[in-house]
Amino acid sequence: MEEKGKLMDNATDARIEVAGLTKRYLRRGGGKPVVPVNDTSFTVGSAEMVVLLGPSGCGKTTLLRCIAGLERPDEGEISINGQVVFSSRRGIFVPPNRRPISMVFQTYALWPHMTVFDNVAYPLRCRGADRGRIEASVMEALSMVGLAALARQYPGQISGGQQQRVALARAVVPRTGVVLFDEPLSNVDAKVREQLRAEISRMQRALGFSGLYVTHDQVEAMAIADRVALIDDGRIEQIGAPEEIYHHPVSPYVGSFIGSANLWPGRVAACDRERVTVRTSFGDVQVGVPAVLPAGWPQVAPDAPVTVMARPEVIAIGREAPSAVNGFAGVIESKAFLGANVEFTLLVGKERIRAAVPRSDIAASEESAWIGIDPKNLVLLSDGRAAAGQ
Ligand SMILES: Nc1ncnc2c1ncn2[C@@H]1O[C@H](COP(=O)(O)OP(=O)(O)OP(=O)(O)O)[C@@H](O)[C@H]1O
Ligand SMILES: [Mg+2]
Repeated sequence: MEEKGKLMDNATDARIEVAGLTKRYLRRGGGKPVVPVNDTSFTVGSAEMVVLLGPSGCGKTTLLRCIAGLERPDEGEISINGQVVFSSRRGIFVPPNRRPISMVFQTYALWPHMTVFDNVAYPLRCRGADRGRIEASVMEALSMVGLAALARQYPGQISGGQQQRVALARAVVPRTGVVLFDEPLSNVDAKVREQLRAEISRMQRALGFSGLYVTHDQVEAMAIADRVALIDDGRIEQIGAPEEIYHHPVSPYVGSFIGSANLWPGRVAACDRERVTVRTSFGDVQVGVPAVLPAGWPQVAPDAPVTVMARPEVIAIGREAPSAVNGFAGVIESKAFLGANVEFTLLVGKERIRAAVPRSDIAASEESAWIGIDPKNLVLLSDGRAAAGQ
């Protein structure tokens, strides 16, 4: 057994390794301590981008700050580029300025009295680089973010999106190999956000740095991540490729946080090796059992509480009852044309169900429609109410 909180010595090409990390805060005035990082372990590989995703207050920034050395964790171990920078057991704490990382903040954090050039040059000057190298590296980094022409401006003379580009250039210029991002795009407008997101991915591919990227925006997470770590209350609920998390969430929490999901709690009415019948509030739903069970697939026994997840795009809509299983009559509540999809909301029994179809000639004014779902497109999860302690 691996000793808790100790890193494995045979770790391969991981650039960031976190093992058994815990950080507690005592609230002013007493009460139970807050535990924003709760026995967390994960790695970020070479040239990999891992996104920490979760709701406000779940502990994303605290975890990032522990890795940067801006917070001192209570337990566990952190290693960057193979060097242990924190170990509670061995009493190691390397200060932030001696950790081989760069950071990009939500608020840009540029020096207002320094030009764009000097801001980007700052980490190289701190490391004692010579003038020739500074000039070449800074102009290369500024060209990469399309700002070479603005090198002599001050931060107050350029836009917010341009300021964040400067912060990006400053983060990559010392070639630390590891860049931490804390919601870097949340202060810029939607269009600039998309451009910068693509630029970060492009720079990452070109320079090959490893990134740990905090956001609460699931679209941003899916677009930029090699792997997404979904955080809930200080713990990693699931970590995996965006496709894996989307199609095989391990819990109703993950399913509802990533993309939109219809979640139907119920009880197992019958099960065999190919099908599970779940009794939901609006009828019996047949769920196909995959040949290889994904991570979140719950123990199935008659009467066990479970949740069925249906992504809106797996639900078909028609005027006739589908001939196969899983056909339910519904009342149309709304229809919205969203370009790529037409989204319907239907009331089936008391359950409000969302369906997204490529096109449909069923009008919003029509009262009712049938929904149909192929059992193999449904996902069985543990019972969300039990998990939430209700
Ligand atoms: N210095 C501190 N002292 C006490 N509690 C703190 C401190 N810093 C953070 N917390 C608490 O820790 C929890 C996690 O905070 P954190 O900033 O890590 O959340 P977050 O996931 O980054 O949220 P957001 O998306 O809003 O930025 C919160 O409950 C917060 O109030
Ligand atoms: Mg935060």
